[in-house]
Amino acid sequence: MDNFDAIPAGDAKAPPAAPPLAGSGADPAAGESEADPNSVRVRAILAAARYHGIDLDTNDLRVRRGEVATALALLGWVRNSGLWAKATRLSWGQLLKLKGPAPVVLLFADGGAGLLVGANPARNVVFLRDPRAPASADPVAVDELRLQQVWGGEAVLVRKPRGAPEADAPFTFGWIARAVLRERRILRDIGLASIALSVLTILPPLLVMTVIDRVLVHQSLSTLVLISTILGVGVLYETLLGYARRELTQVVAARIDSTLNLHIFNRLLALPIDYFERNPAGQTNHRLHQIWKLREFLTGKMLTTFLDLFTLLVLLPFLFYLSATLAWMVVAGSVLIALIILAFLPAIRVKVGRAIEAEVRKSVVMVETVHGIRTVKSLAMEPVQKEVWDERVADASRKRLEAGRLSNWPATLVTPIERFIERGVLLLGAYLVLEQASTVQVGGLIAFMLLGMRLAQPLVGLARLIEDMEEVRAAVGEAAMVLNHPTEISGVSRGLRPRFNGAITFENVTFAYPGAKAKALEKVSFSVPAGTMLGLVGKSGSGKSTITRLLQGINREYDGYVKIDGSELREINLPHLRRSFGVVLQDNFLFRGTVRENILAGRPGLTLEDAVRAARLAGAEEFIERMPQGYETFIEEGSPNLSGGQRQRLAIARALINDPRILILDEATSALDPESEALVNANLKRIGRGRTMAIVSHRLSSLVDCDAILVLDQGTVVDMGPHRELVERCAIYRQLWLQQNRHMQDPANRPASVGPVLAQGD
Ligand SMILES: Nc1ncnc2c1ncn2[C@@H]1O[C@H](COP(=O)(O)OP(=O)(O)O)[C@@H](O)[C@H]1O
Ligand SMILES: [Mg+2]
Repeated sequence: MDNFDAIPAGDAKAPPAAPPLAGSGADPAAGESEADPNSVRVRAILAAARYHGIDLDTNDLRVRRGEVATALALLGWVRNSGLWAKATRLSWGQLLKLKGPAPVVLLFADGGAGLLVGANPARNVVFLRDPRAPASADPVAVDELRLQQVWGGEAVLVRKPRGAPEADAPFTFGWIARAVLRERRILRDIGLASIALSVLTILPPLLVMTVIDRVLVHQSLSTLVLISTILGVGVLYETLLGYARRELTQVVAARIDSTLNLHIFNRLLALPIDYFERNPAGQTNHRLHQIWKLREFLTGKMLTTFLDLFTLLVLLPFLFYLSATLAWMVVAGSVLIALIILAFLPAIRVKVGRAIEAEVRKSVVMVETVHGIRTVKSLAMEPVQKEVWDERVADASRKRLEAGRLSNWPATLVTPIERFIERGVLLLGAYLVLEQASTVQVGGLIAFMLLGMRLAQPLVGLARLIEDMEEVRAAVGEAAMVLNHPTEISGVSRGLRPRFNGAITFENVTFAYPGAKAKALEKVSFSVPAGTMLGLVGKSGSGKSTITRLLQGINREYDGYVKIDGSELREINLPHLRRSFGVVLQDNFLFRGTVRENILAGRPGLTLEDAVRAARLAGAEEFIERMPQGYETFIEEGSPNLSGGQRQRLAIARALINDPRILILDEATSALDPESEALVNANLKRIGRGRTMAIVSHRLSSLVDCDAILVLDQGTVVDMGPHRELVERCAIYRQLWLQQNRHMQDPANRPASVGPVLAQGD
């Protein structure tokens, strides 16, 4: 106890110059501004995660420099790395009872943290470890009074996800069932309320029976009073229980809703880019929307039907007690209904499937039209689109109608049976009363009537449920097509996190897009040192963009090796890789928000100064400052208030904001007017200082300054060298150059500063 002083008293004020935490993989270039790896809390979490075999990346922690990491930020950090984490409040008693050797992170009130590594209830002490202390240091025993001086009860639990983590498990009915069952405590309460309600529903018919058979026959007023009292109390209970049941049902519905919502969006974000390239947005959207059918079903019909089944369990014995003959008839009728519905099921399944397919095709047209409305209008394609739409609408409604017609059949056939259960039983009962008065009495018959209807309802509902289940099953299948597509970040925590310099090597890289026959790249080999300004030229379709896509890890199923500083790309942690890249495409999406927000792009810990610096480097400062509100100017969707050149320079600023080691410009200036292009090109040399750049351009004039130019043709490397060499020795390059610069005489006279190496694969 005497060395209690070793317990961290928090160090939000820890000297920033302290050495970075060993093994945290912190990449100063990419992320020191994002989180201070020396913060005790961060260290505590790192240690807790490492206990479970996961090395967290401090770059992923979204905390501003100098700020204390909140429990919420820490949770997000841990969870994104695939671990289970929970923020909670613990009491001293709970600390003593914590089981297992896994450390628990205690967040101290002053911004510090401690690792709880054990407890000794007999001595009434817990054992804490200072996250900054070496692993070999002994934990310190602390008693309640001492701990409470620094600790208010906040704790973070970290552990391996139990079983298949729900985020990774395939989306199936089973997944949903598990999601629903996770609410089992509430569901149990709902069940209890339902059983109680069912028992109460027996009460009135029972009393009616008694009134008729006893009170009326024997004219006993006291019995009537007693019965009235019971009835009154029954109504009171029924009201309260009904309220509780509805309330709980709402809670379950809301919770399942948010579970589904979170899951959908997480999966969507984790899908690889090529999924979105191959599937129309409209289709994805429509499929994901199907999930709400499921949600409605789960918390609507299915729940009520199951609750009604409780009624059945309570009622059925009672009905058999009243009259076995009548009860059997009700059961037989219900079974018949179920059989009819089941018989139609396979055919309905097919028709419903077709109808849904048609709906998808229809909504694709809608979304495409909205997205491409400019093209539609400028090409005067409205009549064409309308025709397509008309046809799809007709198709969809025809198929819906077919499905509807078919399911009308079981509904029709079932009606007489339902009526028989409700009314036929009455006639039969009356007959039984007349013929064998000994077994059934009038009161009993009326009670049966009142209850029989309640019995038929759940039985028919159950059969109908199976019918609805078909549609929901189809909906789940639809949603699963999106949600079960393999995600790209299946192991966020996996992979190397090397510190990049930016040397790029392709070794015999062959690649074909999934589903494509022709190879987009064939035996591509080249190598450039860090800091190179690399130009990529070639005809359209020659594989320039494909090379940049492989570099970013968008497509990873290539043969051969792509290396950055000698590390194979597929072994590098994907988020880390992407963070090291800046990418500017021909058409860049600017988000709704201010200029500053667009440049910072939600990166934590960056300020207006960073945005200004990036804008200056990108040559965007000049026009931003001329805008009415400068950096606070609002950019609308589609950025109509910016010219193409301005948009491009903003995109470049955005790509430069975290000082990427490698910058890719894929036809970034191709759509610009010559003046804007010249502006951007004038900045390229400055932008490229201290980083590797890959510039794709079909205008060779913007590449003459490159240290090396890679000439591609039909997916193969033709040559590589600086401009002045290529003009002399590479026929394809010379031809392209002459095409674009006929008016010039002496095209090449620029030296190369870095000597690139070309290794032609064979
Ligand atoms: N997402 C994709 N899916 C299938 N094939 C593609 C895809 N992107 C490009 N390709 C094909 O790969 C080849 C190379 O394309 P790309 O690298 O984009 O050429 P470049 O950028 O030089 O014009 C082309 O034949 C093209 O049709
Ligand atoms: Mg391209």
